[in-house]
Amino acid sequence: MSVAIKVDKVKFKYSNKTVLNGLNLDIEKGSFLSILGPNGSGKTTLLKNMCNLLKPYDGAIYIDNLQLKGIKYKELAKKMAVVHQGSTPNFEFKIYDIVLMGRYPHQKRFSFDSKMDLDIVKQVMLDTDIWELREKSIFEISGGERQRVIIARALAQQPEILLLDEPITFLDIKHQISILNLCKKLNKEKKITIITTMHDINLASRYSDYILLLDSGRVEVLDVPEKVITEKNIESVYGIKVKLINGEKKVPYIIPE
Ligand SMILES: Nc1ncnc2c1ncn2[C@@H]1O[C@H](COP(=O)(O)OP(=O)(O)OP(=O)(O)O)[C@@H](O)[C@H]1O
Ligand SMILES: [Mg+2]
Repeated sequence: MSVAIKVDKVKFKYSNKTVLNGLNLDIEKGSFLSILGPNGSGKTTLLKNMCNLLKPYDGAIYIDNLQLKGIKYKELAKKMAVVHQGSTPNFEFKIYDIVLMGRYPHQKRFSFDSKMDLDIVKQVMLDTDIWELREKSIFEISGGERQRVIIARALAQQPEILLLDEPITFLDIKHQISILNLCKKLNKEKKITIITTMHDINLASRYSDYILLLDSGRVEVLDVPEKVITEKNIESVYGIKVKLINGEKKVPYIIPE
């Protein structure tokens, strides 16, 4: 197995609160991984450690066998794009220009946007269904539209790895499915490794190659959806009883009892 991200005995704490206590993880290159777990289980903390926004106090993270902390910001941005939980730029730029910023890691200093940059920007804006909004400012659009702008900017980076923190939480059902379909398409056709947190267990089972179930900063289980989404695992991590229905193509589907 070729590894996109290796998390090696990572320990992380916020002042005196330990969140990750020796976490180990190998994320397969080209896979679609969903990270599930209750509120406060450490999903965002783990994702922020994987993109160097937070630094472990012990252990290390490797991207393509290179230690993350030694990779320069612009180099990392060519490999990895991140969509943070509820993140919105706080400046009055046009939507189009915000997405264009995603091209920055690929541009030389003081160079103009090339035709290729503009083509990529148009394509990702069409893919995320925001092309019509291109002349508007970020303050003139809805929360779900903003989320799609941030996803488009990440896609404009043309990363090898896409990290997403709850990308569909604020989206309506049509846009939830269209964003997940788009991630799946990029994953299949462009071999982009997708690592996403989410709360919808059923959508995670449907779209993911692997699911990581996180409980209090520990890996409860990491495996294919049918091994992870079981009545027993859900009860043990979330403390609720669910009924499992085996849906199409062995995709597990749960309903709370
Ligand atoms: N900046 C911070 N300072 C101190 N503690 C924090 C900070 N951010 C998060 N925590 C704590 O760390 C733990 C893990 O938080 P984290 O945000 O990683 O959880 P999560 O799994 O992403 O939750 P959610 O599903 O609500 O997004 C929680 O107990 C939280 O209260
Ligand atoms: Mg979170």
